[in-house]
Amino acid sequence: MCGIIGYVGNNNSVPYIIDGLKKLEYRGYDSAGISILQNGSLVTVRAVGKVAELEKAALLANPKGSTGIGHTRWATHGKPSEENSHPHTDCSGDIVVVHNGIIENYLTLRDKLHSLGHRFKSETDTEVIAHLIEENLKHVSAETDAELLIKAVQKTNAEISGAFAYGVLWARTPGLLVGVKNQSPMVVGLGENENFLASDVPAFLKHTNKVLFLEDGEIAVLRVDGATVLGKDGKVKKPKPVKISWDQQTAEKGGYPHFMLKEIYDQPQAIEDTLRTARADFGKILGLNTEALRGLQNIHIIACGTAYHAGLVGKYYIEQFAGIPVSVDLASEYKYRTVPHRVDTLAIAISQSGETADTIGALKKAKSLGFRTLAICNVLGSTLTRTCDSTFFTHCGPEISVASTKAFTSQITSMYALAIFLGNANGNLSQNVFDKLYKELMALPKAMSEAVKDEYTVRHLTRKIYKADRFIFLGRNVNFPIALEGALKLKEVSYRSAEGFAAGEIKHGPISIIDKGTPVFMLMPYDSLFEKMLSACQECRARGAFVVAVTTEQGAKQAKDVADKVILVPQASDFLQPVLNVVPLQFLAYWIAKRLGCDIDQPRNLAKSVTVE
Ligand code: AGP
Repeated sequence: MCGIIGYVGNNNSVPYIIDGLKKLEYRGYDSAGISILQNGSLVTVRAVGKVAELEKAALLANPKGSTGIGHTRWATHGKPSEENSHPHTDCSGDIVVVHNGIIENYLTLRDKLHSLGHRFKSETDTEVIAHLIEENLKHVSAETDAELLIKAVQKTNAEISGAFAYGVLWARTPGLLVGVKNQSPMVVGLGENENFLASDVPAFLKHTNKVLFLEDGEIAVLRVDGATVLGKDGKVKKPKPVKISWDQQTAEKGGYPHFMLKEIYDQPQAIEDTLRTARADFGKILGLNTEALRGLQNIHIIACGTAYHAGLVGKYYIEQFAGIPVSVDLASEYKYRTVPHRVDTLAIAISQSGETADTIGALKKAKSLGFRTLAICNVLGSTLTRTCDSTFFTHCGPEISVASTKAFTSQITSMYALAIFLGNANGNLSQNVFDKLYKELMALPKAMSEAVKDEYTVRHLTRKIYKADRFIFLGRNVNFPIALEGALKLKEVSYRSAEGFAAGEIKHGPISIIDKGTPVFMLMPYDSLFEKMLSACQECRARGAFVVAVTTEQGAKQAKDVADKVILVPQASDFLQPVLNVVPLQFLAYWIAKRLGCDIDQPRNLAKSVTVE
């Protein structure tokens, strides 16, 4: 779970690499480093902390060269320290490697290499790759140094196991950069007389939008004038470059102080863009399998974190509109539990990044059980989308803030669309009902534009409550997962203790943690469960809680009598209301974190894409 960027071109590579690393910081930010090929030798600069620290160190060292690689790290093996920062070198210092992922057999390889005389300087699994390439260079033959390096890399790949993507530079091959992909992301950016290797597109999007998505087992060989891709069999492949439509500005903050805030405000557009393709895409995905769809008896949803909460909402939707039983699992649990083998099952994996190792692992298990698979994903070309039978893309643009906001509401929107299309296709929804639901869905972007208008009420409220030790979120039915998401968001960015519960459940235990002044957020739209939520408000208030009701205008009148504060959200249909209800909770997390001085876009201990188990 790290970020890699490599540059080969005619300019000094340092600014390209530092800038690319900043764009990749969401993948990890506990240390960073660069290696630049300067006059035939490699100059490496590394620093603990964020890329800004590396930038300062690089300014002092001032390396210059037109071939270089860089890395921003999220520690897996070995603490965050300068010695464990990438790039890592072989014994000679002529080979450098940057790596993302885990080499599972690194201890065996390390022992073997040690007995052959190799000496290690770090605790990382990555360093094994550099030494193994060094060792393998002794056992391959070729006419040129470039061919030698490629052969040594191929031999190395055959010996290491795990999920990994890495980049290599060799002092003897200036103007050459080699990249490897196996179950961790790696893309190639094709520019004019300059080419890039990276973990993700924003790293080089400023310079080119022409991208090659590497497949597992492929090796990319980059030179100034082009890139070659070699398949697992060593033969040259000719993948078609993809033109990315995201521009750099989309991937940047757009004037907001934090990506999280920008992404909250992006939501009306994100939902609109997601819906734009829903009819055609779901029509295609579901239409292809009409026969099979009729026989569909089970749906398994697998996801992690926020995407899991979207899956929980999706369960209500699919069972309501398509009448198909749904189980929702945390991907990390699904992978290791006994899942009965049934031929009539569809597994749906939800993931913003499409690179979450747990979700990919669970999806592979579902495949191995013979289930059909569908991904709901935001990242084109990601591993998950290439592993699934079909994908519905949430088109919400790059989500940079570690705390997911717009991806979440786009995922729920997609689940709603999927449920009604599924219900329509399997005959559970009449055409009339489907048309009504579809119309309501199409009105969602407008309602979302209203929802994001009221940042002020929440901002103002947080002045009073931001120092509270504990926050509680309650909801019922389709709003229960929103309570979970509200709590997760707050924990992630403000480090406050927060818990979400089904409102009907508090009397079975959780009410004991409510104390004088504990802020309790009630998700209580004016629906069939409104009265029950009013009772929950009374119960909490009687224990001294500071009750905040999140409701619509229709509910506000009664909510005022039982809550200390009312936050209004626009009205939608009962089943779409959760998409709007989460917005004040996103603002809440943002403002509490801001008042507490937290690092909002890159909270401590977290990373955007969790590409390790
Ligand atoms: C969301 O705010 C979190 N950062 C995290 O829970 C995230 O949703 C989870 O890691 C899954 O990521 P994915 O959607 O990229 O698979």
